[in-house]
Amino acid sequence: MIPDEVVEQVREAADIVAIIGEHVRLKKTGSVYRGPCPFHQGTNNNFSVVPGKGYTCFVCGEKGGVFNFVQKRLGLNFVEAVKYVGEKAGIEVIEVDKRREGPDPREPLWELNATVSAWFTEMLWQNAVGAHAREYLIKRSITRETADRFALGFAPREVGLMREYLNGLGFDDQRLLDAGLLVKREEQDEARPRFRDRLIFPIHDTTSHTVGFGGRLLGPGEPKYLNSSESAAFSKGKLLYNLSSARSAIRKDERVILVEGYFDVVRMVDAGIESVVAPMGTALTDGQAELLERNAKTAFLLYDSDAPGQKASFRAADVLLARGVTVRMVVLPDGEDPDTFVAKFGGAAMEKLLTNSLDVFDRKVQLLERGGWFADLQRKRRALDALMPTIRSTKDQITQELYIARASAAAGVDRSVLVHELSVVTTGSGRGSRPRQAPPPPRDRDPDAPPPPRPLGPYRGSSPESSAERDVLRVMLLHPTYIEEIIERVGRLDDDAGSHPEVEIDEQDPRGALRDPVFRSIYDAIAERGAEVSAEQLSEALDETAVGVIDALLAEPGAVIDPRATIDGALRLLKERLMQDKLGELERMTPLATGAEKDSLLRESEIMRRELTALGGRSWRSVRRMIE
Ligand code: GTP
Ligand code: MN
Repeated sequence: MIPDEVVEQVREAADIVAIIGEHVRLKKTGSVYRGPCPFHQGTNNNFSVVPGKGYTCFVCGEKGGVFNFVQKRLGLNFVEAVKYVGEKAGIEVIEVDKRREGPDPREPLWELNATVSAWFTEMLWQNAVGAHAREYLIKRSITRETADRFALGFAPREVGLMREYLNGLGFDDQRLLDAGLLVKREEQDEARPRFRDRLIFPIHDTTSHTVGFGGRLLGPGEPKYLNSSESAAFSKGKLLYNLSSARSAIRKDERVILVEGYFDVVRMVDAGIESVVAPMGTALTDGQAELLERNAKTAFLLYDSDAPGQKASFRAADVLLARGVTVRMVVLPDGEDPDTFVAKFGGAAMEKLLTNSLDVFDRKVQLLERGGWFADLQRKRRALDALMPTIRSTKDQITQELYIARASAAAGVDRSVLVHELSVVTTGSGRGSRPRQAPPPPRDRDPDAPPPPRPLGPYRGSSPESSAERDVLRVMLLHPTYIEEIIERVGRLDDDAGSHPEVEIDEQDPRGALRDPVFRSIYDAIAERGAEVSAEQLSEALDETAVGVIDALLAEPGAVIDPRATIDGALRLLKERLMQDKLGELERMTPLATGAEKDSLLRESEIMRRELTALGGRSWRSVRRMIE
């Protein structure tokens, strides 16, 4: 069974002319479309379709709506027909299990959210408490009309207002807690509103339920933006801000524009560019890419021009490419986001930027070229390493071919070399074999969520090699007199590791001596402050996970008996790992090399091998096997 409202939604969203047009040659005459009737195989244009309504044949009398047509013409049952049309209209049609027929369990949350959304709007426009929020909107030049289009609201600072109002309507505290509108830090605490003194952006799912909110702080403070907490109704990774409103524009424009923030969306729409959505402060997920893919084949990424913005957009691009979406990158002038750009230069200037956008792959190649990353063999290797993941994740065959050709031309490397690399799973000490790093911590850890669980037992690090990194840290923590020396020696190893291309696309590419993200953050925090570092300074500078790891390292039984021997041993292992990587890199350079280059590569590898043998005799790989 498909919920009635979904059926209605699909019916409304369906482009009946396009759907019937796939089976009947239709010609526009006035406000209707005419063609030969497919049911009685007519040859004259006796069959008419009225947009948004239905079809009729004057001869055989067949008539109906979009679902009837699909059912009869394609031999589908009703549910199948709704799914078929839904697919075309970009609406997800989920059949509800007959056995647990009844209201959707999320219904109570939707109802509550819709109610409180209206209340937030009232606070913004009709209440004295909303005065400074109204001023804020004026300051950001958001008109009443635009604000209403997005149903913006205001969550007042006062603690009791919302609760009183909602309780009065019969919504009890438990439901408010379930919806994340109220929060309790501790069981015995008084519940407080999650959103206080924030401008409210209601968030809708594709079927237009109000599933949650984003709130921007009006004054200074942290976090600047806060979203509803994850719940049955609100799952950030499966939602896109503004998608339900933008969908028809997205389909009409045959493109979707992805921006980072709420205000970017609002400003773009205000300027008449309506096919815009935003993820909510998180990296684009595959679930979101799927939502986009259903509605448009081309995505324009319009992220901040700063380094984190570019990095995030390249990452989003890979997710979209993996779904077969074409990705174009728009480059904003330094320091602008879509909001400020449109506010300054207007919608027409923005359309121009969109027109001048580059295919994401061309943009990468362009950045690498500008950085001189195709200049020599070693840099070429890195540049190709930066390009390969994108080529690999590109689902569309033709696009992938194009990218291979483009990379091959830019690097001056035969196409077959790249094709071969694509087909081979990297082995040995090449970069592909590195353990995957823990993902970076999300930027918006929910302030009301409980702290993340401490690792059980001593933290082992993200890879087997991490035990040498642990040893280095333990000596630093237990024997601060060695700190200076360690910093100096690790620094030298880090320098040896070489530089990165500016387009650092491969996130899984830690190159220094210490690579475990948690260990590295601890090391950096100590190194920055030197031997005089205090425990307080560290716990202030580091996140909870790292602080927990320090505690665990200090509490670990078994003292470091001979710090010097421990350091020497650990650093030797870390050096070996670096050298093995370099050796692997030399090997991987070979296919890119021409005659003379090949010879010098071989010589270099030989020297490296000898040095490695001198270092410890055992290859890193065998050491790794031992400690695993
Ligand atoms: P304005 O300063 O209001 O123009 O916001 P912005 O959109 O320019 O801010 P920014 O580029 O910093 O952030 C882009 C988007 O990331 C925001 O719209 C939010 O969705 C999200 N975001 C930014 N800061 C935070 C934060 O502290 N917490 C959370 N949860 N999300 C954030
Ligand atoms: Mn902004």
